[in-house]
Amino acid sequence: MNKAAGALDPLDVVMRYHQETKHHFSRSARAPASMDWANQPDPFRRFQGSPLIALPVLKPDEAPRSPLYDDLYRPGAISSIPVSIRALSRFLEFSLAISAWKQTGEVRWALRSNPSSGNLHPTEGYLLIDGVPGLSPFPGLYHYAAKEHALELRARLPQESFTSLLNGFPPNAFLLGFTSVNWRETWKYGERAFRYCQHDVGHAIASARIAAQTLGWRMLLLDGVADDTLGALLGVNRIQDFNRAEREHPDCLAVIWPADQAVAGSARETDLLPLFLAADAVRDSTRYIWHGTANRLSRDDPVQWVFLNQVEVASWKSSTEHRVVAVNRSGHTASAPGIDPRQSGAGQVIRQRRSAVAFDGETSIPVGSFFTMLGRVMPRIERDLCWHPMPWDVLPWEPAIHLVLFVHRVDGLAPGIYMLVRDPAMAGSLRQSMRQQFAWSSPPGCPEDLPLFLLEGGDARRMAVQISCGQAIAGDSAFSLGMIAEFEPSLRRHGPWFYRRLFWETGVIGQVLYLEAEAFGVRATGIGCFFDDPVHQVLGFSDATYQSLYHFTTGGPVEDLRLTTLPPYGLDH
Ligand SMILES: Cc1cc2nc3c(=O)[nH]c(=O)nc-3n(C[C@H](O)[C@H](O)[C@H](O)COP(=O)(O)O)c2cc1C
Repeated sequence: MNKAAGALDPLDVVMRYHQETKHHFSRSARAPASMDWANQPDPFRRFQGSPLIALPVLKPDEAPRSPLYDDLYRPGAISSIPVSIRALSRFLEFSLAISAWKQTGEVRWALRSNPSSGNLHPTEGYLLIDGVPGLSPFPGLYHYAAKEHALELRARLPQESFTSLLNGFPPNAFLLGFTSVNWRETWKYGERAFRYCQHDVGHAIASARIAAQTLGWRMLLLDGVADDTLGALLGVNRIQDFNRAEREHPDCLAVIWPADQAVAGSARETDLLPLFLAADAVRDSTRYIWHGTANRLSRDDPVQWVFLNQVEVASWKSSTEHRVVAVNRSGHTASAPGIDPRQSGAGQVIRQRRSAVAFDGETSIPVGSFFTMLGRVMPRIERDLCWHPMPWDVLPWEPAIHLVLFVHRVDGLAPGIYMLVRDPAMAGSLRQSMRQQFAWSSPPGCPEDLPLFLLEGGDARRMAVQISCGQAIAGDSAFSLGMIAEFEPSLRRHGPWFYRRLFWETGVIGQVLYLEAEAFGVRATGIGCFFDDPVHQVLGFSDATYQSLYHFTTGGPVEDLRLTTLPPYGLDH
């Protein structure tokens, strides 16, 4: 990364990057003129020379068995299981593993539990964990090798280093880190790719949070950690280990722990957890014993895009915030609204998640299901209680994303454009920034605590397709949507590094909706390709206060019958 770009004003760079990577009706964001297939990056990173420890490949009905899907959202419904190699195997299966192979003719490609724009999966996962029987007697830093469903030992940690690193966190806690091989997205999408990498990180955060919940584990992003610290801890700043290999950008670090474990000596119901790591403990990473060198992913060196390089530097998080957050141990006891009991297992829903490549233009969903799905993306801010429901408890910032919905086929709800205000305190500001003629009326039967508003009735199918780069999936579905970020004000309030967090939050919303769609017997698809400013024109946004960052669609899928599906890791399910 060219740090000289840091001489520019970072906020200005981020704002300009966003502007320059918008797709317009008349021209697309800068991207390769054609696909350089011979140079396509390998979606699987390996560290040559690192000891590889295979994780047990578990059948769906083997322990640890997954709970009912709806129980994921019922506080206290799932008891914690201890951290073991089998539990880690399940955790990684549900978050980052291969979920199926697809084949047509001679061509075969893997799908994973987490989706990825372009399916080359820029997001790499790392665990920093104490000794676990079957894995190692010593604490270590491991890279997750998805193709093998195995952990590669990147570094062995002195016991005292690990202990001081996790000091202040509940017993048996471990760390999960994500990095991005940005080249896996830039190869295909050029300059807009940085956005897609961030979306993918958001999807991975949610996949991991939900996977943790299946085991009764909690997860919290340690958002006070600076990117330099993260790079050092995960070893992606080690130039000597990435000789000629495509680099990884440090993204985020999370702490995961069995929910029934309290910090030693703390009050029973609420723990205060730091969102940062002690400086001494981090400096200790120089004492780790490192293994392995990263594999080369493409034949040629990555193509350089000027703006990409600049936005990486400008959105780099240089600060460490010494914040703590209160974490409620038992979760909230109020019942979540609008839940229809469903009998699908969480594991089944996670394994079957796929992106629809086409929708049938017929399937509708009942309005009750629609309200339930929307209820699941509500962070339900209760500022006094410092509490958010799963998976929103993973993000330690106030929600900054709202949904504009293009409703096409929801039984019991008039077609039209709707707004879901995820932070009700923002309703006034949104209303002021949007078209004055919008109705802002509450739809009939809408649960009282769901801040959903009809803006304008009518057939929005054509418009939804047009603004989604002409993709029919936005109009043939039951509903599609745009995720609207509180944009410039958030960047000014937090700093330019928050740019990446805005995308992460959209990815978490997308992942929740992907699984909700599966649980309701329909299917979903993320939409990264949309015409930014035309979306804003439709809604009446005239400046950078609000920006649409990600689109999404849900409906009855049309299967591609030419493709064969094969199970992962030799499993037969
Ligand atoms: C951030 C993001 C953006 C995406 N954008 C599009 C899109 O614009 N059009 C589309 O058809 N699919 C899109 N997809 C779906 C991906 O192509 C899909 O996730 C990938 O091929 C892997 O397949 P799977 O989701 O079935 O595992 C997107 C997915 C993500 C995560």
